[in-house]
Amino acid sequence: MTELTFSPGLEGIIAGETAISTIEGDLLYRGYSVEDLARQASFEETAFLLLYGELPTAGELAALRGRWCDDAERVPHEVLEALRLLPTTAPMMDVMRTTASLLGHWDRTAETDPRLANRRRAERLLAQMPVVLAAAFRLRRGWEIVPPRGDLGHAANILWMLHGTEPPANWAEVFDDSLIMYAEHEFNASTFTTRVVASTLSDLYSAIVAGIGALKGPLHGGANERVLEILQAIGSADRAEAWARAALARKEKVMGFGHRVYKDGDPRAKYLKPLCAELAAGAGPEELERIAEIIERVLWDEKRIPPNLDWPTARLYHAMNLPVELYTPLFVVSRIAGWSAHVCEQLENNRLIRPRSRYIGPSARPLVGR
Ligand code: COA
Repeated sequence: MTELTFSPGLEGIIAGETAISTIEGDLLYRGYSVEDLARQASFEETAFLLLYGELPTAGELAALRGRWCDDAERVPHEVLEALRLLPTTAPMMDVMRTTASLLGHWDRTAETDPRLANRRRAERLLAQMPVVLAAAFRLRRGWEIVPPRGDLGHAANILWMLHGTEPPANWAEVFDDSLIMYAEHEFNASTFTTRVVASTLSDLYSAIVAGIGALKGPLHGGANERVLEILQAIGSADRAEAWARAALARKEKVMGFGHRVYKDGDPRAKYLKPLCAELAAGAGPEELERIAEIIERVLWDEKRIPPNLDWPTARLYHAMNLPVELYTPLFVVSRIAGWSAHVCEQLENNRLIRPRSRYIGPSARPLVGR
């Protein structure tokens, strides 16, 4: 047999081609830097860009907003009722996984062109998953479900459905930025998972459900929840340095730091960092910001490890009074854009993804005496 390349964790392996995003140097979505998109575009426009390849014209954006409003209002009542049957202790990521799958049973996509059909399915998931998330979150607290509002942008609408009050404009803007930053990231573990599922010619819902499962782990999307738990457990700035040094001495991975690809810093974390201080100012979590600053310094001084996107995002969500259990699910409601774009791209030039393994088990042996 010819010698095949083996790289644990597929590190350094090019596993496919994509025109959706690159992380070489800066992070670009279809050629645009995420910083420019965050400054000048909305999450809706970014999702359109990822799904259709170009930013929408004014007419296309208005049509997209109309479709998303209709979709958000039409979450099947069976799905909302099913939420009441789930254990209130179920992790929210499990609720997301289950409801993404359930929504597939009520797929009413009428498009006959399969490429358009999957993009419409993706749009519907992008519009409906936040409604489901907010409903699940409120129901388990015994609160009334807050229906979506057609007059609010996507980010403001999510905060409205969760809190039941209209968010301050700066919260909606920063939240929109965080959704843009979470929307897409090349061949990360969950996106690769969705492409593997799509490559078998399975359906979009199956791919998204598998992606949610992969994102749940603390080495991937789950890190944003661990970040806040750590900051809250440390509690005060005078304990932060000792905590960070002890964690490094124990060779523990500090959640929200490090990245398989960005070794000099995650551009998304750099963009969001100043917004953390802005949002925290006068709003209560300044102590958390002081703790974060010290941990960041120790990790850089001791090991040259910079923070990743989850480090600022967890603090931003906390400053917006969002409870920890929502952080990874909010990553999902954004990343559906990137996952779906990858499913569409995979299907447009498909080859079954089927790598090989290196066998390290026993050599061939006879089965005797049974
Ligand atoms: N905290 C402390 N040390 C870390 C670290 C972290 N978060 N991330 C990496 N390191 C250290 C490793 O211990 C290792 O040190 P050593 O050379 O002294 O043994 C070195 O940096 C290289 O780490 P490695 O595990 O090979 O990097 P990786 O590319 O496999 O890991 C992650 C990437 C993301 C899995 C890893 O950084 C991590 O677990 N981070 C925390 C989870 C997280 O925030 N995930 C979200 C990613 S966006």
